[in-house]
Amino acid sequence: MHDTSDMPRVIPIAVDTGTAYGRPAPTHRNELTDVGPGTPMGELLRRYWHPIGLAADANATPRKVRVLGEDLILFRDGEGRPGLVYPHCAHRGASLYYGKVEERGIRCCYHGWLFDVQGHCMEQPCEPEGGRARDKVRQPWYPVQELYGLVWAYLGPPEKKPVLPRYECLEQLEPGEFLEADDHSIGGGGPRIIPCNWLQHYENIVDPFHVVILHSSFSGTQFVPEMAVMPQVEWDTTEISVRTLSKRQLPDGRTFRRISEAGIPTLRIVPSPRVGRLGMVESLGWVLPIDDHSFRIYVVGRLREAGELHRMRSRPDGRKLWEELTEEEHQVYPGDYEAMVSQGAIAKHSEEHLATTDRGLVMLRRLLQKQLDAVQQGRDPAGVFFDPATPPVKFSAGNWME
Ligand code: FES
Ligand SMILES: [Fe+2]
Repeated sequence: MHDTSDMPRVIPIAVDTGTAYGRPAPTHRNELTDVGPGTPMGELLRRYWHPIGLAADANATPRKVRVLGEDLILFRDGEGRPGLVYPHCAHRGASLYYGKVEERGIRCCYHGWLFDVQGHCMEQPCEPEGGRARDKVRQPWYPVQELYGLVWAYLGPPEKKPVLPRYECLEQLEPGEFLEADDHSIGGGGPRIIPCNWLQHYENIVDPFHVVILHSSFSGTQFVPEMAVMPQVEWDTTEISVRTLSKRQLPDGRTFRRISEAGIPTLRIVPSPRVGRLGMVESLGWVLPIDDHSFRIYVVGRLREAGELHRMRSRPDGRKLWEELTEEEHQVYPGDYEAMVSQGAIAKHSEEHLATTDRGLVMLRRLLQKQLDAVQQGRDPAGVFFDPATPPVKFSAGNWME
């Protein structure tokens, strides 16, 4: 027999698994997230009208706006027509941000060329006879329209320009109701411009479970106590939206039914989480991708009191507005802003572990993919129409108690 007493003893060591070491670099589905010209989603989004400002934002002071990764200048000429133009003057590129708005258009500060809202060059004051060849110059421009207190722009191929949609829930006003537009709304509070990809907010619309955790228990009650009840949820896909149907059995015996929708391409059709009013959804929101790393939201609501939209803004700790919270309070009372922005400038799709409660999100990504495929195959995506007689778009979102 060998004497083993002087041999080192092998002690089995459990090797750690699942550590952060050596993990692959995260990736995301850029066909869904990126919005610049020439990208798949950028081209899809360019087939629709988007709100780019409140009506009051178009005025005699040129205003910088950034939409789908493009920098543009918004103004309103002296005849009341809103205009949206490429910033760099067609002459030698000075920005029309420093231009002067006049009766017939916007005049460049450098050599005074004057452009109308469709980019026609009306005057070249330094050129002989006011510019003999000025008809050959066109300042790049985009079509704009006004509706519901918002300025809408179409940044897509001119031959595919659809009719600017109207919406049933904003057309059927009850006595005493009026419409109001707002440019400052994110469910759980935040600044006007949110520094992350638009898809993170859009997907949040089909995620009713975060309402129970993030908004109803983790940070206290950010909306109303009813929202803390765990819902039974079903999702379905319509031609133009993914619907979330939530049913809650309330402690007092009532059944609370709620339908919210994420509409193609960026629509937020969410009845008030404060459940102040029952019935048909009372406001619509549009997520406007500013670029790949930021977005903002425009909202139009049917109101009964002026300023109601503003007063509906969340107070994440139940008292203060988002911008009044300290860093420590943001950590103790996180809301949508903290959850969404902390996913990253663009969420890391390769690191996700989607679960049963993410079904709506999967359905929404599929619905978007279907529209990307349609555009790629030369077809029209869902929700665009070309007949001005098309009736207002109808949704089924709302809150109901039984
Ligand atoms: S650069 Fe605008 S007029 Fe010359
Ligand atoms: Fe939320």
